[in-house]
Amino acid sequence: MRAIDLFAGFGGMTEGATQAGARVVWAANHWALAVDVHAANHPDTAHACQDLRQADWSRLPRFDLLLAAPACQGHSEAAQPARASSEDVRKRHDGMRSTAWAVVDCADVCEPRALVVENVPEFREWRLYPEWRAALERIGFRMTEHIVVAADHGVPQLRERLFIVGTRRRPFGLPLSAQGRPAFGPCIEWDAGAWRPTHAASPGARERISAAQTRLGPRCLVQHTTGHRGVPLHEPIRTVTTKDQWIVVDGPRYRPLTLREYARAMGFPDRYTWPASASRSDVVKGLGNAVAPPVARDLVRAICEAA
Ligand SMILES: C[S@@+](CC[C@H](N)C(=O)[O-])C[C@H]1O[C@@H](n2cnc3c(N)ncnc32)[C@H](O)[C@@H]1O
Repeated sequence: MRAIDLFAGFGGMTEGATQAGARVVWAANHWALAVDVHAANHPDTAHACQDLRQADWSRLPRFDLLLAAPACQGHSEAAQPARASSEDVRKRHDGMRSTAWAVVDCADVCEPRALVVENVPEFREWRLYPEWRAALERIGFRMTEHIVVAADHGVPQLRERLFIVGTRRRPFGLPLSAQGRPAFGPCIEWDAGAWRPTHAASPGARERISAAQTRLGPRCLVQHTTGHRGVPLHEPIRTVTTKDQWIVVDGPRYRPLTLREYARAMGFPDRYTWPASASRSDVVKGLGNAVAPPVARDLVRAICEAA
């Protein structure tokens, strides 16, 4: 099956689709670093670095499956219009939400056989969501919604995301995954990274580390900047976001997750690369924004089998 990937980011969706046997022929994003990372890991895909709200869909190569993960920032609970803190923030979030219409435009022009759209579960609370979904139905898709927990697909992370699938003939049913939820512990590179003594952490972080160790034992995962209670290593890590907030604690020492550990938390294979010159915060952002590849793999495989 030939696919394209809109809002392709670092390529989690492409990676999963490729593992499922699809050929991703075109991928686009407006962030140059994301396009570079995608191109380095998926050299056979054609790439475009552009604002997809202004794409000319008639110029795309032929494809069957439309993959898309439009911007989610405007859909998180804190970003709903009534709660946005200022007019500027509201307008920025409106602009981000509008990226979802690129999926409708592209599907209207290119008429793929199927589509997969990923977003946060709050996407369905968007006041235009009924119209957005109805537009895709009008184009001829049978739409289904799936809340998927990445850990159920072999990813060592409890990450809940919404996947909306559009198929032509009959509604899509996602087969239940029989896999157990993997622990994050085996992902940790104990010999890597810059460890620091816990007594050198900020007072707030020290307090959180000590509370987590009392509850979970000497080795655990902690978010050093939030009120999260921490995670034992025999469980999946909790949601990885675009913020660099997870630390590994090992008795009297701690350090931030390594970038490889962040990538493993998302389910990227260890061969996945990013430029050494990229800033840590950009890589964390690209990884935290990604679709977990094993989830995309299982979805695309099921779509290919059903099609
Ligand atoms: C949820 S992330 C996509 C993750 C990606 N599918 C993956 O699996 O790695 C959304 C992406 O959309 C990009 N983006 C946001 N607005 C855009 C726009 N107007 N045009 C193109 N890309 C945009 C962001 O840079 C970000 O990489």
